[in-house]
Amino acid sequence: MKNKTLGVAIVGGLSLLTIGLGFTLEANHSASKQLVSQSDSILVQNNEATEMNTFITDLMTKMTIEEKIGQMNLLTSDLDVTGPTIRAGYKDDILKGRVGALFNAFTPEYTNRLQRMAVEETRLGIPLLFGYDVIHGHKTIFPISLGESASWDLDAIRKGARIAAKEAAADGIHWTFAPMVDIARDPRWGRISESAGEDVYLAKEIAKARVKGFQGDDLKATDTILACAKHYAAYGQAQGGRDYHSTDMSQRELFETYLPPFKATIDAGVTTFMTSFNDLNGVPATGNKYLLDDILRKEWGFDGFVVTDYTSINEMVPHGFAEDNKHAAGIALNAGVDMDMQGSVYHDHLTDLLNEGKVTVAQINRATRRILEMKYKLGLFEDPYRYSNEERAQSDILNQEHLDAARDVARKSMVLLKNNDKTLPLSADVKSIALIGPLANSKADMVGSWAGAGHADRDTRPVSLLTGIKERAGEQVKIHYAKGASYAFQDADDVSGFDEAIRAAEKSEVIILAMGEEWSMTGEAASRTKLDMPGNQIALMKALRKLNKPIILVLLSGRPLTIDWEQEYLDSILMAWYPGTMGGLAIADILFGDYNPSGKLPVTFPRTVGQVPIYYNMKNTGRPYDPRQPNSKYVSRYLNTDNSPLYPFGFGLSYTTFDYSEITLSKTRILENDKLTASINLTNSGNYDGEEVVQLYVRDRVGSVTRPVKELKGFQKVMLKQGETKTVEFEISTDDLAFYRQDMSYGVEAGFFDVYIGTSSQQNRQAEFAISEETQSPH
Ligand code: NOJ
Repeated sequence: MKNKTLGVAIVGGLSLLTIGLGFTLEANHSASKQLVSQSDSILVQNNEATEMNTFITDLMTKMTIEEKIGQMNLLTSDLDVTGPTIRAGYKDDILKGRVGALFNAFTPEYTNRLQRMAVEETRLGIPLLFGYDVIHGHKTIFPISLGESASWDLDAIRKGARIAAKEAAADGIHWTFAPMVDIARDPRWGRISESAGEDVYLAKEIAKARVKGFQGDDLKATDTILACAKHYAAYGQAQGGRDYHSTDMSQRELFETYLPPFKATIDAGVTTFMTSFNDLNGVPATGNKYLLDDILRKEWGFDGFVVTDYTSINEMVPHGFAEDNKHAAGIALNAGVDMDMQGSVYHDHLTDLLNEGKVTVAQINRATRRILEMKYKLGLFEDPYRYSNEERAQSDILNQEHLDAARDVARKSMVLLKNNDKTLPLSADVKSIALIGPLANSKADMVGSWAGAGHADRDTRPVSLLTGIKERAGEQVKIHYAKGASYAFQDADDVSGFDEAIRAAEKSEVIILAMGEEWSMTGEAASRTKLDMPGNQIALMKALRKLNKPIILVLLSGRPLTIDWEQEYLDSILMAWYPGTMGGLAIADILFGDYNPSGKLPVTFPRTVGQVPIYYNMKNTGRPYDPRQPNSKYVSRYLNTDNSPLYPFGFGLSYTTFDYSEITLSKTRILENDKLTASINLTNSGNYDGEEVVQLYVRDRVGSVTRPVKELKGFQKVMLKQGETKTVEFEISTDDLAFYRQDMSYGVEAGFFDVYIGTSSQQNRQAEFAISEETQSPH
């Protein structure tokens, strides 16, 4: 079969113009009208680009080398520590034109104050760019990214990023360090909570939705901000799940799994990239010319700017890749890094490196231009104060519309993992509930890590589960609350709160446990070697189980936990992640049946940490385990644990039931460049209206390299009323089946394929089709 290269080159402004005008000449009347207006808009774009280039060229001719290097310097403010004050050191840096961008600074008052210094008191008045980690909301906090991804609802995810941008922009922020698009398959790694999970297809779609949400259609609008694809690259595969650790992987794995979400952000128009902390195959990502120049610039055509992660240029010294900071600065610039986050090494060493001939003026000019372009595109040269706006901050931040949207996504993000005997939703007649656990009366644990400006110690708005349940239950239902247990690692043997919890449970018809991990146990620098419930929570659960009352576990954590005991002995389990500002109300919506859960896991839950890495699209091996022959010796399995996960990727229950028909294929044999449709009839056969995420997987049975047992290729979230049936149709094109073949060319191979449609990666209907070369039948 012919090779099909699917990577499409980015078309520059000039060639677009030529194509536009060329088509106009040949088009019929109505089409030509459309094309004329298309070429008009291309002309406008080109005019804008010319104006921008002229403006920046003019500005750069006035800049000294030091001022240019200043633009390449990003420093943190101390707002996170002491509130909105300006450090003396900063003031001096800003006034001398030694800093082009700041992060961790927000509020209109603070950002305007700093901006005035840059604009009114420096020689050239170049405005500052303000960045911040607006990860899952600014002040209205949405579920953590992994949780939001469990909604499989791209519109809701895009809207979440849109709202975050709107609030952040009003608060003076121009640039978010998001989306994080690292594929994450190791739950020991705390930053799995910031990811979209383990799957490439899902992560790509979510990455695009988030970039579009943050950046909108027009960067000049005062409610859109620059997005930043991070952490480039392969950070998610830190060895042993230990943060900042090395990654070592084949080029195939890099291209097939870890790079595609980054490429997807470029397709969505992302404007900045952040390098990662790790070394990849021996070369730190921040000094990695192959990643930054060959792939990002040359192959993908990225034309925004690249920032490092926090001091990651300096960290090339302990990595053993640079002798000292000066050496590291030279490596970074030569590799293609435009902006130094917090390391000050560009500021300290680039002038000397230039004088010594180790870097060039052209490199400094190029980086400066890329950064100034973004300031220009945001409209900062027209009005440097256009984002920070007290009035908009008052009207937009935490407004009802945003809170409602956060509650909506939070409900959509929750995954019902178990529901025996319809324990959930709670009966309308329930009169007493015990709410027990260290996460029940906590606001900080609702918003999770990276809640930034919306963290509970800055903002009192987050709704705890206790408040949410009380509000929904009303006066008639008695809520008996007891903290009962602790999630602190060191409290494993502490039983001091158990009696109170047992008394609360004894007085109640049903027990709701709010247990899991403290918010700071996930996120950056939060790796774990065990994935069980920390502290003495499991001991309390066991004590409560003896009461023989229905127990519902509301699980709050930023990673999959190993909850095999809970799965066996508790009645219901609801994975709530860290659901955000409206978390307590959103969980109550589900517990009381006001919302029917529809989330599906974006990541596999292992039975035990020893199974890690475990993800649904692994290879089959030459000796696959067959569950029908559990005692076979020489097969790929563990002696003491089943191969299967506790909960597979894509899994999630509903209060209703969905029936899948067999798959109908429009064709069972297609040629290269052809398409077919696969459809099923989906029926809501239960007693509630509900949404189902219908998932399409494909297996390429034989390839020039071994192929995964299954790969997600599409999904649709479908709403069905009780008794309703809908046909759900997927188009499968041969492009969808392309992969990196043995010679690393990208394309499809003829042969047989299995297609699966179903409710999770493990429960689905199956059919088969073939791709054949024009004249031959599949091998
Ligand atoms: C380090 C983190 O790795 C990165 O994700 C974040 O954006 C920066 N710190 C800035 O806070």
